[in-house]
Parts: sequence; structure tokens; C-alpha cells
Amino acid sequence: MRRACVTGGAGFIGSNLVQRLRAEGMEVAIVDDFRTGRREFVADALADPGVTLFEGDVLDEALLRRAFEGCDWVFHLQANADVRHGLERPREDLRQNTTATAAVLEAMRAVGVSRIAFSSTGSVYGEPEVFPTPENAPFPTQTSLYAASKLAGEGMIGAYAHGFGFTGLVFRFVSILGERYTHGHVYDFYRSLKRDPARLRVLGNGRQEKSYLYVADCIEAMLLAARVHERRPGELGVYNLGTDETVVVDDSIAVICDHMGVAPRLDYTGGIRGWAGDSPLIHLDCGRIRALGWEPTLSIRQAIVRTLQWFDANPYAWSETVHGEGSIA
Ligand SMILES: NC(=O)c1ccc[n+]([C@@H]2O[C@H](COP(=O)([O-])OP(=O)(O)OC[C@H]3O[C@@H](n4cnc5c(N)ncnc54)[C@H](O)[C@@H]3O)[C@@H](O)[C@H]2O)c1
Repeated sequence: MRRACVTGGAGFIGSNLVQRLRAEGMEVAIVDDFRTGRREFVADALADPGVTLFEGDVLDEALLRRAFEGCDWVFHLQANADVRHGLERPREDLRQNTTATAAVLEAMRAVGVSRIAFSSTGSVYGEPEVFPTPENAPFPTQTSLYAASKLAGEGMIGAYAHGFGFTGLVFRFVSILGERYTHGHVYDFYRSLKRDPARLRVLGNGRQEKSYLYVADCIEAMLLAARVHERRPGELGVYNLGTDETVVVDDSIAVICDHMGVAPRLDYTGGIRGWAGDSPLIHLDCGRIRALGWEPTLSIRQAIVRTLQWFDANPYAWSETVHGEGSIA
């Protein structure tokens, strides 16, 4: 791998990936329009001659073709990454996730780039019956437009692998934590407690069981799989990326309160789901990626604390929100 493009490269995960690819000595092209990404996240990268920014909308295929020229891989991380607001703006997921992925695939084909790594989500399993949930678990009903739009993206990547000989990698992430984290439970709770340390509104009954993964561990898993699949044209590799643990929402609140030195009254909105599409239990079987030799370096608790420490040191990142509140990918 010598040159890669990262769509969504100014976002939370994308900007961390750009930094990691540069550390490997790779040239990197970023496509981003900064709608939820931040210039601060790529300030260092953009001062580096090995990184080129193609600023604009991923739906602009001419822009994509320029960005993809000469790339060995496209890491397609651009998306509407907010699960919770799908029902308020039903066309958003279709446009930003499904149509955008189609645009990426067509632009790749136009310039002869045929390796794609795609950030999908564990939400595609909906409310599964098997735990921990393996990649080949039967798919029940989709419970969010976000996941449905991601699943459509997965389907297209599979079809491009089968039909055009693409190398396809699909990563189904649990919720990711770490430096530059801008949306999710931990973000919402931290911001809310900064505003009012005396009370905290919790969506659902607080018993939802979630799984998290540290962003650097997520990126190492993606790069390992990319190396393994580099010479496998025509194949689609699907990998769950998560830890073998889960954490109950109430327990992550306890870690956050402990770190912040606060003891708020907890006001639950009630019910086993925080919102339509919230999964009461997420626990992915990550045996497939582990079989390649990967393992996470941080536990969920350590990843939460690492994220809180980053918030403490970077107030700009949480004092104004780029995503809507309560947005969990
Ligand atoms: N963060 C998580 O916990 C999580 C979990 C599962 C899956 N994912 C997926 O991982 C990927 C990255 O997520 P993230 O948390 O870094 O989100 P993010 O919102 O921080 O990053 C998305 C980036 O894409 C850019 N973008 C969005 N629409 C664009 C468009 N039309 N044209 C150009 N740029 C555009 C944004 O400006 C942003 O920089 C997404 O595909 C998301 O669905 C994230």
C-alpha cells in the first residue's frame, strides 16, 4: 500500500486513520466537506506535504475521481454517522450512506481503483438472537434507517467484488471511543454533566448493554485486514470489530461520574430502548478478526477514561456540538 484515500478523513475515526497511514509513510488523500468533521482534527495532517485535501461533497464524482487517482485503497468512512435522527430525516441515510457509497464505487471503477474498506456497523444485526453475534448470524428486521442504509452499502460492495473483481472489506464496528470522539453516549453524558452536574437525563432504563472499541484498536484491525486481503480480488471480507466485553449504560455513567467527581440524580426516560433503533444489547463475536492476530489494547473502561481525558484536554471538541445530541453510530 503506497497511497490511500480516506473519505470522511476529517471526522473522528477518519482523522485518526489519516494520522496512522502517514505514520506508515503512505501518501493520503482526504475527501471531506467538514459537515461533521473538524479542521482542528486535520490541522497537522494538512501541514504535511504527504496529505492532500479534496474538499467537497462525496456525491461529487468528479471530485472523487481526482482524489482516487493512483490510490491502492479507498477507506470509505464518510457517512451520516448518526443513528438516532433517521426517522426525522428519512432521506438523509439513503443519500449520505447508500447513494454516497454508490458514488464512491463508480468513481473508483472510473479510475481503476479496486480495493475498498467500508465502515459499516454492528447495528445491521438489528436485535439479533445470537450473542455474541457472529458475522454470519441471520439478519432479522432492520431497526434503523442508518443500519439499513449501511447494509445496502455492504450489498453494493459485495456486488462490485463479484461483478468487477473489487477487493471488498466490510467492517461492522461497535461504538468507537478515543481521541477526537464527537458523538455517542459518553459524549452526551460528559457534555450534559458539564452543564449541570446535579442531574443527568438517561434515555431508556440505563440497563442497555453496549460494546465499545478504542479508535486506535479499530484502525489497527482495519489495516491488518487490508494487508491480508491486499491480493484477494473478487473477494468480500466481512469483519466485526469490537471487544469481547460489554458495559451497561449505568456502569459507564458511573465511570464518567467518578472521573468528573460528580454525583448527579439520574432521570431515566424509561423502556429497554433509548429510542427507536437503539439496541438493548450489542455484543459482537470478533473471533474472525482475532484469528488474523489482532487484539484490542484497551478495555472498554480504559477506552472510556482515555476519551474523558481527551475531552478534559480539548474543550473545543465538546463545547460546541457537530452532531445532534444523543447520536450513537
Ligand atoms: N463512531 C462510531 O462509533 C461508529 C460506529 C459504527 C460505524 N461508524 C462509521 O464509521 C464512519 C466514521 O464515523 P465517525 O464517527 O468518524 O463519524 P464522523 O461524522 O466524525 O465522520 C464522518 C466524516 O464524513 C464527512 N462527511 C459526511 N458527509 C459528507 C459528504 N456528503 N461529503 C463529504 N464529507 C462528508 C464529515 O464531515 C466527517 O468528517 C462512518 O461511516 C460511521 O457510520 C462509526
